Amino acid sequence: MTEAILLVGGKGTRLRPLTVHTPKPMVPAAGVPFLTHQLARARAAGVEHIVLATSYLAEVFEPYFGDGSALGLEIEYVTEREPLGTGGAIRNVASRLRCGDDDPVLVFNGDILTGLDIPALVAAHDESGADVSLHLTRVPDPRAFGLVPTDPTGRVTAFLEKPQTPEEIVTDQINAGAYVFRRSVIDRIPAGRPVSVERETFPELLAAGAHLQGMVDSTYWLDLGTPQAFVRGSADLVLGRAPSPAVPGRCGDSLVLDGAAVAPDAKLTAGTVVGPGAAVGAGARISGSVLLAGATVEPGAVVTDSFVGEGAVIGTRATVHDSVIGDGAAVGADNELRSGARVWCDAVLPAGAVRFSSDA
Ligand code: GDD
Ligand code: MG
Repeated sequence: MTEAILLVGGKGTRLRPLTVHTPKPMVPAAGVPFLTHQLARARAAGVEHIVLATSYLAEVFEPYFGDGSALGLEIEYVTEREPLGTGGAIRNVASRLRCGDDDPVLVFNGDILTGLDIPALVAAHDESGADVSLHLTRVPDPRAFGLVPTDPTGRVTAFLEKPQTPEEIVTDQINAGAYVFRRSVIDRIPAGRPVSVERETFPELLAAGAHLQGMVDSTYWLDLGTPQAFVRGSADLVLGRAPSPAVPGRCGDSLVLDGAAVAPDAKLTAGTVVGPGAAVGAGARISGSVLLAGATVEPGAVVTDSFVGEGAVIGTRATVHDSVIGDGAAVGADNELRSGARVWCDAVLPAGAVRFSSDA
């Protein structure tokens, strides 16, 4: 049986809420809570038992996913009293694993959307006999990630989390947030205190001569840590660029969920999702955006690359680009929002309150 640990906790996930009603891992991406995509992909790769390691809001995961049987999985939930960090969270669920000492255990960061070939990572792990195998990807700017240089055989030579100086930027290969651990390596992580797998476990393993093996690929990969990335990930799921068996319906330009009302001449493009009960008025154009349940886009409004929360309203002729509109907020007619603007949940912008274009 292949087992996996899914990490959904820490501070980052809570600090940047997209909505008031829903913690981020449960915010719908392409119509279903984001975590569903990771769970469904793991299942499709042969994983049967998943331990969800959380440090907060565990009460929202369990009522939704239950014992996992709807996804063909067996899911267990473990909540840390205080966030234990990535390594501490992994160690904290070790007692729930059922496999033997030398067996492989998959570990996934809970905020990653990727086309990773999971069985290929496990096969590469078996073949190399590594202690830990890491999925690596290349990014143009690696500073926000863990840098992972490798030798010509793919063996990891260093692990540099969030490099601070230009000298530390020795590669464009980064930790993509999916690992295969030999079970006994997990059991040796110190228990009962916070541990960062990136800052402590991996560097210490390397210093002790352990074998960490990297698998670099160029498949789809996105960290959904910002609202902008979340919107892009949702659109890529709808478009079929990011593969997931959990997208409800066929991939295409848009996904319109049950009970949504879209005017016949409204245009939905670039992976837009119109949530259940949402309404899009005549002549509105929505591109690459997420409209959650009950949101309204009034006639003639233009929404691009944006997130519109539950029950939020975008007024007539308003233009909203690269922005986050919180749950229940109302953007009045003729407003112009762009460049990462965030309208707080339930805030109300009067008609024409924010403009970028000239007064003429
Ligand atoms: N249970 C639990 N407890 N989970 C945690 C904790 C914790 O205390 N802290 C973090 N996590 C989870 C997060 O929910 C997330 O799914 C994952 O661990 C990684 O944490 P982030 O806070 O998202 O880290 P990051 O994005 O800055 O960096 C990590 O991911 C990068 C790839 O996106 C690192 O692993 C980097 O090395 C990596 O490049
Ligand atoms: Mg992250």
